[in-house]
Amino acid sequence: MAVRLFEGKDHAVAYLQYRVMPQELISVVMGFMEKRTKSFHLAVDVGCGSGQGTALLAPFFTKVIGTDVSPAQLEMVPTNSSPPNVSYRQCPAEELPFESGEVDLVTAMTAAHWFDRERFLQEAYRVLRPGGCLALLSYTMDMELEYGDVSDALNDICKEFYAILFPYRNPHIGTNSVKIYTDMFDSCPYPDKEWNQCFRIKRTVTLNGFIGMVETFSNYQKFKQKDSAEAERLSSNFRDKLMSAMKASSPDAEVTMIVKYFYWLARKP
Ligand SMILES: C[S@@+](CC[C@H](N)C(=O)[O-])C[C@H]1O[C@@H](n2cnc3c(N)ncnc32)[C@H](O)[C@@H]1O
Ligand SMILES: *[C@@H]1O[C@H](CO)[C@@H](O)[C@H](O)[C@H]1NC(C)=O
Repeated sequence: MAVRLFEGKDHAVAYLQYRVMPQELISVVMGFMEKRTKSFHLAVDVGCGSGQGTALLAPFFTKVIGTDVSPAQLEMVPTNSSPPNVSYRQCPAEELPFESGEVDLVTAMTAAHWFDRERFLQEAYRVLRPGGCLALLSYTMDMELEYGDVSDALNDICKEFYAILFPYRNPHIGTNSVKIYTDMFDSCPYPDKEWNQCFRIKRTVTLNGFIGMVETFSNYQKFKQKDSAEAERLSSNFRDKLMSAMKASSPDAEVTMIVKYFYWLARKP
């Protein structure tokens, strides 16, 4: 079964503002493809949200189409800065509006764990042409921070915060999102496939930006639905503790955030 989340407007706005786009990983995906094919007509980014990842594919393809089930997410696509060869469709991941064998690349960025995984994979296999590639990427929620010589202290504070949110994980993704992807990878019948368990992406962000990102996670959103005052208290407490460990006077202080991505890539024979 697929789950419907990320549909609220506020959430979509926060999403656009705070999520990290994995440019470095797009290079890995394109490197994988370029070794295997010369056909770059159509890429489809499934569960594209507000399209920041989708747009990163534009330079490599004649046409890129982002698809998402959520109208609120698609409304947030920044249309004026969207490349001319990128467009969007509202549809479920499990029913893609493409002909069989039409697509050169199917991606899902931090999204496939929300889908009906089996039906999505069948659908991706259907729309890919022979030689076309599938790229699924996501990251674990345990981002790390680096800041001078207090990185360890910051990471202890982060771990404590993540632990409080842990029980609010959506049952659809269970306790281990990496396993969802290794299971999907193991089930993929294509012989030419590649798994990478940890690909670190570093970004300089403000403390507020980091906290804003964490607040877009579904477990924080769930906590907030249950008790919004308590959720606010939790994140302001988190902010205060981090600022104090950093001896920072403003939440606009910059830290290095490390996001641990994992991904798999496969080529349809
Ligand atoms: C965590 S967001 C990721 C968005 C974007 N790919 C990114 O990297 O920022 C997950 C997205 O998957 C979409 N989604 C969830 N279930 C879906 C389904 N069954 N079909 C299509 N999209 C779905 C949500 O609406 C949401 O926009
Ligand atoms: C698609 O748009 C991107 C960004 O504007 C551009 O770099 C790329 O060349 C375009 N592709 C084609 C085939 O027009």
